[in-house]
Amino acid sequence: MKLKISKTLISKEEIEDKVSEIANSINNDYKNKELIIIGILKGAFIVISDLAKKLNIDVTFDFMSIKSYEGTSSSGQIKIDKDLDTDITGKHILIVEDILDTGLTLSHLKNLLESRNPESIEMLCIFVKKDVAKNPVHIKYKGFEIGPEFVVGYGLDYNGKFRELPYLAVLSEA
Ligand code: IMP
Ligand code: MG
Repeated sequence: MKLKISKTLISKEEIEDKVSEIANSINNDYKNKELIIIGILKGAFIVISDLAKKLNIDVTFDFMSIKSYEGTSSSGQIKIDKDLDTDITGKHILIVEDILDTGLTLSHLKNLLESRNPESIEMLCIFVKKDVAKNPVHIKYKGFEIGPEFVVGYGLDYNGKFRELPYLAVLSEA
């Protein structure tokens, strides 16, 4: 089956405005604090680079690469392919993820990072599939709520492709 971009769901301009809005909130919330932004590879690389340019706080960046598996048990598991280089003990951290789908990845990641005793831990997702999440996680900074359809662009891929699109799009059969 061959897939192509069928329609733009969220435009480049809408995304740019939203990222600016979120950056303003982060600048306010972390004023006079030291923040470590943790990007989840690969999907978050675009939103992080756009966000980074709009921050005016004391901030550093680190990245993790993880995979989530939902096995036969309901608990699920994540596997770390690349861990952080930074010790987050006693630090304020903000996890940045491209999309919240079932919530499995972020709920497990949050538990894992909490066990390293950071001072605070919050999350940012630029897209949230609003009716899909079955693992409740609190996302402090939400970009856009979308439906359950499979989307690509702005960091999100289908078989590694389409991440470079500056907008969010829906795929359909060619
Ligand atoms: P979760 O653990 O189910 O919340 O899965 C989140 C991960 O699944 C995201 O980081 C994406 O890599 C991937 N994902 C979920 N929905 C989509 C989509 O519509 N397009 C592309 N990737 C998606
Ligand atoms: Mg991902």
